[in-house]
Amino acid sequence: MNRIDPSPSDTPPAAAAERVPIALGERSYDVIVGADLLARAGELTAPVLARPRVVIVTDENVAALHLGALEAALATAGITHESIVLKPGEATKCFTELESLLDRLLARKVERSTTLVAFGGGVIGDLTGFAAAVLLRGVDFVQIPTTLLAQVDSSVGGKTGINAAAGKNLVGAFHQPCLVIADTSVLDTLPPRELGAGYAEVVKYGLIGDADFFAWLEDNGAAVLAGDTDARRHAITTSCRAKANIVAQDEREGGVRALLNFGHTFGHAFEAETGYGDALLHGEGVALGSVLAFDLSVRLGHCPAADADRVRSHFRAAGLPVDLADCGKPLEASALITHMRQDKKVTDGRMTFVLARGIGDAFLTRDVDETTLAAFLTDAGAA
Ligand code: NAD
Ligand code: GLY
Repeated sequence: MNRIDPSPSDTPPAAAAERVPIALGERSYDVIVGADLLARAGELTAPVLARPRVVIVTDENVAALHLGALEAALATAGITHESIVLKPGEATKCFTELESLLDRLLARKVERSTTLVAFGGGVIGDLTGFAAAVLLRGVDFVQIPTTLLAQVDSSVGGKTGINAAAGKNLVGAFHQPCLVIADTSVLDTLPPRELGAGYAEVVKYGLIGDADFFAWLEDNGAAVLAGDTDARRHAITTSCRAKANIVAQDEREGGVRALLNFGHTFGHAFEAETGYGDALLHGEGVALGSVLAFDLSVRLGHCPAADADRVRSHFRAAGLPVDLADCGKPLEASALITHMRQDKKVTDGRMTFVLARGIGDAFLTRDVDETTLAAFLTDAGAA
């Protein structure tokens, strides 16, 4: 691994940008959050490069809108760069594309001192991070996330990977980036539906551990979605700080990191049943899954009903799905439970759920039996 400056934190970002340190010993790095950072990507990236050579991996949508700005910024800082542009969409996170990407990188004669730059949403970040983990037995990579979901979640914490026939994200590696640059301005070109899906992951941090942040989102969520610069920066830095805190305690998900999967056990099952596509985006599945996690918490006597009502109201106000009927197709409880049994949190055949005692107070439990779950899903509208 090439990490010439283990403490990039010594270089403070300019005003109006904030730095969130991810404290992982020799794998520590910074998340820089602010407006118009793409123009500064060269100066921000240069200190973490072993050599001034990078290969950018991006997708066609992001390339058309923003690649020119990134390439210009790298050139200004004297960083040699090449770009590989992939098809957008979840289907790109697969074995075939991984092999093709690795072959294209090797054809460019990358060396261990070459740094990859993942420039895009979670699909590009996960695929490029995994390629970086296995290329030449591991090269460095920088994340420049361009979706809200990627800025608050997937670019931070080092989970990388691809999908397998058996399910999503089942092949991968923990491989931390050496820098994350979250430019809030690039979110201006994001389709509103993608922005909303990312917003569900922002709300997640309030739900699992920060009731004040959830209350702030109730007041300011509309501004975050509408593009208010300060509101966006606050929402993203607060989310990244929350994630940094959890990842620093439990980098490889032996325990507390599983709280970050709040809403995901249900959400992944809805995504699987709706085909992992436009019918239900990942973040939309997380929103619906979070509502159900609160409803189940109420039903099991863990949580006041008023909290579940606030959660449902907030996601509904953000235009996110809150009822099974919002998935657009009938769902069967038995099919959903089959998907839940494949969740990565299953241990000794028992599902692990993330439930809540209230807003800001999530906990892990294995005490939800399948009969209770089936009855709950049926009452929620599943066939
Ligand atoms: P995505 O990467 O597919 O991006 C969504 C769409 O937005 C794509 O069409 C993309 O081309 C487009 N896009 C990206 N940036 C844009 C911009 N600035 N302007 C206009 N269009 C833009 O989806 P995503 O929601 O960012 O990520 C979802 C993926 O992230 C899933 O594969 C999920 O499994 C993964 N994920 C990983 C982690 C992790 O910890 N590694 C966490 C959460 C999600
Ligand atoms: N997105 C969940 C995690 O990073 O652990």
